Amino acid sequence: MQNFLFNKIASGVYMLGTCDGNKRNACVIDSCMHVTFQPARVAISVLKTNLTTEMIQKSGVFSLSVFDRSVQIETIARFGFQSGRNADKFGGFECPSDSNGCPYLKEQVCGMLSAKVISAIDMGTHLLFVGEVQNAEVFSNRAPELFTEYQRELNSQPN
Ligand SMILES: Cc1cc2nc3c(=O)[nH]c(=O)nc-3n(C[C@H](O)[C@H](O)[C@H](O)COP(=O)(O)O)c2cc1C
Repeated sequence: MQNFLFNKIASGVYMLGTCDGNKRNACVIDSCMHVTFQPARVAISVLKTNLTTEMIQKSGVFSLSVFDRSVQIETIARFGFQSGRNADKFGGFECPSDSNGCPYLKEQVCGMLSAKVISAIDMGTHLLFVGEVQNAEVFSNRAPELFTEYQRELNSQPN
């Protein structure tokens, strides 16, 4: 019942990037919203067990790349189906870094933003980070990918 309703709350799909020293990492999230306009702030909810979460806690910075409708399932799988703890997510994959050193995407996305963490709230299984946007760029006018569309496309893939 609760899960059914949560599926009706529209959300996009994002690549969440971060870095800690020379090490970069990224995962996929759908739990993201903008919370204020001036100053521009976003909130993200991330599992404590994700390597990305651990690294954001240390570095206090992250990037968000907003997947558009051209996103390939392989890209979501690369960053969202495996952990940077035991996989090299960037091997053979072009991924620039923002001014904080966080990886982001220029292809398959509407654009990206860079943010600095101003608050972290313990939600039990998750940490809720609020980030202040330092920079944002638009790369395409394609519609953003929606989580429901991603699920539909995933379910229509041949096994
Ligand atoms: C479509 C999709 C949406 C996801 N949404 C979230 C999310 O909102 N929060 C989260 O913590 N993990 C989310 N995940 C799971 C992480 O991307 C996944 O656990 C990833 O392997 C973590 O990688 P890391 O350990 O390298 O950080 C999502 C995965 C997919 C495929």
